[in-house]
Amino acid sequence: MQANIVLLPGDGIGPEVVAEGRQVLEAIAKSGGHTFNFTEHLIGGIAIDEQDTALSDETLEACRAADAVLLGAVGGPKWDDPSAAVRPEQGLLRLRQELGLYANLRPVKIFPELVDSSPIRADRLKDVDMLFVRELTGGIYFGQPRLRETVDGKTRAVDTMVYTDDEVRRVVRLAFQLAQKRRKKVTSVDKANVLETSRLWRTVAAEVATDFPDVTLENQLVDSATMRLIQNPASMDVIVTSNMFGDILTDEASVLAGSLGMSPSASLSEGKLGLYEPIHGSAPDIASKGIANPIGTIMSVAMLLRNSLGLEAEAKVVEQAVARALESGARTADLGGSHSTSEMGDLIRQEMAG
Ligand code: IPM
Ligand code: MG
Repeated sequence: MQANIVLLPGDGIGPEVVAEGRQVLEAIAKSGGHTFNFTEHLIGGIAIDEQDTALSDETLEACRAADAVLLGAVGGPKWDDPSAAVRPEQGLLRLRQELGLYANLRPVKIFPELVDSSPIRADRLKDVDMLFVRELTGGIYFGQPRLRETVDGKTRAVDTMVYTDDEVRRVVRLAFQLAQKRRKKVTSVDKANVLETSRLWRTVAAEVATDFPDVTLENQLVDSATMRLIQNPASMDVIVTSNMFGDILTDEASVLAGSLGMSPSASLSEGKLGLYEPIHGSAPDIASKGIANPIGTIMSVAMLLRNSLGLEAEAKVVEQAVARALESGARTADLGGSHSTSEMGDLIRQEMAG
């Protein structure tokens, strides 16, 4: 097959890990006779420095025209001034909204070899296999009004949490569809004891559930969900939740896997186009040292192959190669080892070659 893939390396360790992801895609193209055309564009802090915007129209249009986008990370201390007019994160948020990437899939699975890298007891990690489905283009991240103003000598700031039934329905529906191919259980996380948006969320989730009699729906409040993720993570299968709750819970859940550097993500639209990125962020403290863990990006490449290109067998080849590289003892610094980014990438590609 032929596919156009946009690479957005971004900031911090982004360029280092995206380079490894690209080489994995090139290896897949070579062995399967596929043609992947790559174009690279700026996003985030580096785009602010060079183009005065965190996401230029040109980059946005390139992404819109692509089959898939692979992103590294955005942000860093250089652009962190809270009074700055443009922030790197705005690039990512605009991209999500403009491309209609309403569903953010974040799987959390524990490689047996890494159980000892996790701060959570091994017996609690047995059989952990969760898939978060985070709503990504609504909620408090995008609601209007958002402003800061001074009224009667008092400065106040406003963010708005807003959801429509349609927004809730399409993401909950996707969660149920994904659960049908898994352990057939959906946990919908909300704060329905306090928030009106959550009560709407819960009502819509119950309606959607009637179309999926083979899937069980349970509702859980977000505060108790944080405890359950630590105490009994294996009891959950697909977890669907709003933008902000999903942001927080997925960072918590990724700790179970031993390192933030392991976790991939896919942001999906209603069509085939998707954005794929590791969830770890730009990690400025280790940038340019060649020691970042490329596995989050390489596992994101597997999701790209599966979800945007329909190459399921190739996705499995990548995932199994990662597992075998870990079995062979390869570890980057975040996992207590000394393999460099490129050594880990090379080992995974060797395993792919069989
Ligand atoms: C994430 C990140 C982003 C978010 C930031 C960088 C805007 O934390 O993808 O989880 O909050 O969504
Ligand atoms: Mg986050």
